[in-house]
Amino acid sequence: MSIKYLPIVLDSVIPKKLPKVELFVKHEKGFTLYKPQDTELTEQNLERLRENGTEFVYIDNADWDLVETYIEKNMGDIFSNERVPQKSKNLISSHVIIDCINDIFTNSKKPAAFHKCLAILKKLSFKFEDRDDLTSHFNKLEQNYEKYLVIHSAQVTILSMFLHEKLFKASRNEVIGIGAGAMLHDIGMLQIASNITEKTDALSESEYYRVKLHPRYGYDMLCEMFITDQISLDIALSHHERHDGSGYPRGLSGLGISRHAMLVSICDIYCALTMNRPYRSASTPEEALKTLNSEKKYFTPEIFDGFLGIMTPRHLKEIPAEKKSIPREADSGSSALLQDFTKRLRSSAEDRKKLLQLHSEVTDCVNETFGKEKEAFVAFRKELRDFMQSISSGDKQN
Ligand SMILES: [Fe+2]
Repeated sequence: MSIKYLPIVLDSVIPKKLPKVELFVKHEKGFTLYKPQDTELTEQNLERLRENGTEFVYIDNADWDLVETYIEKNMGDIFSNERVPQKSKNLISSHVIIDCINDIFTNSKKPAAFHKCLAILKKLSFKFEDRDDLTSHFNKLEQNYEKYLVIHSAQVTILSMFLHEKLFKASRNEVIGIGAGAMLHDIGMLQIASNITEKTDALSESEYYRVKLHPRYGYDMLCEMFITDQISLDIALSHHERHDGSGYPRGLSGLGISRHAMLVSICDIYCALTMNRPYRSASTPEEALKTLNSEKKYFTPEIFDGFLGIMTPRHLKEIPAEKKSIPREADSGSSALLQDFTKRLRSSAEDRKKLLQLHSEVTDCVNETFGKEKEAFVAFRKELRDFMQSISSGDKQN
């Protein structure tokens, strides 16, 4: 029987605590066994994988229960470990949320699965420095519609929790309620027949009528799961309502739509647009923002402006609108930044934590610039990587 491989984030592996499972690495032609079941993984193994740019290792699907328990048990240690970069913590959190949603969607004992997920949600904390970190790896994961629905729901959860905290300075409890509601916002779609959800052509009127029932189905399912949190219920029921009254199921408008439901509905559309579907390829974040902007009459203006303010990358905000599509040449701002980076590299005293922080800032600049400016940051990043590599090889020789 062939193995079904499941990815786990490399930085979630604590060698001495990982259960005895086989670990695989992925390459162009498939998967190779990296660690047999009875061999112990070492810190050196992990370091070598990191240096090769490995982000994930893979396990046999049959070992998932063991590994899932291990991750839940050690989540606190992984998140409090300063050596684990925030990017990896975000990635681990994303995968944990995907597993939670999958568990609720496929488990016959949904209330128990939900309460377990709620406890996990409380332990997670996302910090994003780069907008693209929010969602960039999700497109590699989706498969059939059910898998898509799980991943899409996870993406909406992360984005909604992050933006609620940023935009409204919402309390921790409120953010957890929003996370729970966003995780399950489309659960009602599980009640819609697969010949409709998997259809790649335009829906007929009667099919669209069926789809429009999913917020009500979702609301009922949450009630059956004994979920009484008003924010979660509201998100399930109202995430397709529109500011101008053209939404469904109740045709609410203006202030009749809560800020939770409105922000989740904006995140819902943004995340759907930026994922590949069988009938269209994913929009880039810029294209998705443009599409949303052309439909802004559907969204509460202050909430939509706040969303745009956070989701528009810095380099598009800084330059005048008419020059937005013109690549920038190196300017005095980036030269000053490069000088500062060089100074920090020289004074880093080979401190790995400082160097990793510097690497993450330079990568932000690489991602947000164009033309000669980008080339300058790429060249600096190469110099920085070579320096980090030389320290690692020095460590190994000593
Ligand atoms: Fe929906």
